[in-house]
Amino acid sequence: MIRSDRRSFVKSLAAGAAAAPVLSLLGPLRQAFAADLERAGLATHTRGSFAQLRSAYMLDPKVTYLNHASIGTIPTAVFDARSRYQELCEKNPWLYMWGGAWEGPREEVRAKAASLLHCKASEVSFTHNTTEAFNVLAHGLPLGRGDEVVFSSLNHDGASVCWSHMAPERGFTVKRFQFPVSDVPQLTKADILNLYDEQITSKTRVLVLPHIDNMVGLRHPVRELTELARSKGVEFVAVDAAQTVGMMSVDVHGMGVDMFAASPHKWLQAPKGLGLMYLSESVRERVHPMWVTWGQRRDGWRGTGRIYEDYGTRNLAEVLTLADAIEFQSRTPPVEREARLRELWEYTHRRAMEHPRTEWRSPHSWELGGSLYAVEIRDKNITEVSEWMFREHGIVFRPFRSQELNTARISPNVFNTEEEIERFLRLATG
Ligand SMILES: Cc1ncc(COP(=O)(O)O)c(C=O)c1O
Repeated sequence: MIRSDRRSFVKSLAAGAAAAPVLSLLGPLRQAFAADLERAGLATHTRGSFAQLRSAYMLDPKVTYLNHASIGTIPTAVFDARSRYQELCEKNPWLYMWGGAWEGPREEVRAKAASLLHCKASEVSFTHNTTEAFNVLAHGLPLGRGDEVVFSSLNHDGASVCWSHMAPERGFTVKRFQFPVSDVPQLTKADILNLYDEQITSKTRVLVLPHIDNMVGLRHPVRELTELARSKGVEFVAVDAAQTVGMMSVDVHGMGVDMFAASPHKWLQAPKGLGLMYLSESVRERVHPMWVTWGQRRDGWRGTGRIYEDYGTRNLAEVLTLADAIEFQSRTPPVEREARLRELWEYTHRRAMEHPRTEWRSPHSWELGGSLYAVEIRDKNITEVSEWMFREHGIVFRPFRSQELNTARISPNVFNTEEEIERFLRLATG
């Protein structure tokens, strides 16, 4: 089939002509996933059943996994759902990749992702990760001489390097200011707002910030910071939500931001290599796609988040599985999830505060934190501790060792236990 034929075939499917029999292929797969959840007793997850939830994953029993912030582990049921899509695809790869069979299901996934983020489906693009989304923005925004992009040293490289890379070519400047990491435990919301207020100037056109940063887990007051930025004339507010989507409820429209990027392979426990990007309608009009091919001019796609997607061959099985990952996570009511993550946070905070050999380096208030926190072990090199703990005890956490930090970043999920945290603390301080 030549390209124009292929496109008109896809179009006819999208218009519904041949969609019904093709779409119905997905029904049994979705039912198989629902049956897997029922069989494994995963109808709903509540606090009483979180410890048993670990058996719903393929984690090595010898591993104590306290590093969900680096990369998530996908539930067996979600893994199986992905394998089923892949198997179906392999029966007739053309049909699923180019023949349009998964056109409708892909849009169902987009709608599901949009309701998770609290935005419209047309505002969501499927990227591969957060880093890609920031590259799309840095390449596509109309910035030039005299413009300034501002972010702090808490910003992850994935949301930072793209700006420095583009700056010399376009002539804009990048201001990366030093965040007072040592003060983080005591900071209040007002302090955080002041810190940003001091850095935003009349030249600032873009403000980039993490929703929760990956080092000390400071939860930024995004709505208030966005209001502050707007009041000072900032045009674009871009938020790195790699650590929050799946960890906590998010409301993109409520925050009023222009861009919001996530990596569902972390807290949503979706297959690796699938990202989400929200771009507000007004910003979409001004951001040129980073790569272009036949789809950017298609009716129905033009002007939507789809124009930022790469139309080359990609692994659609992963995209479809995002719906199952969201479904799996939705079996835990958000209040139950937050209550459990907070319980683990309170336990670790209390134990780290009372132990003479540890120091808590994250916010003292849960409202300004999340399920990733930094604990310093006095007089020890944390990189060596982490290597030893993994080698000898199978405990996985992320060490941070720099001029400012020598900390263990602990990032538990709901199925982690107080006993696991206690074991980590005992071994680390022993
Ligand atoms: C806050 C934050 N932003 C961005 C990233 C980059 O994520 P990805 O590799 O999925 O692009 C990470 C990864 O750890 C992160 O923690």
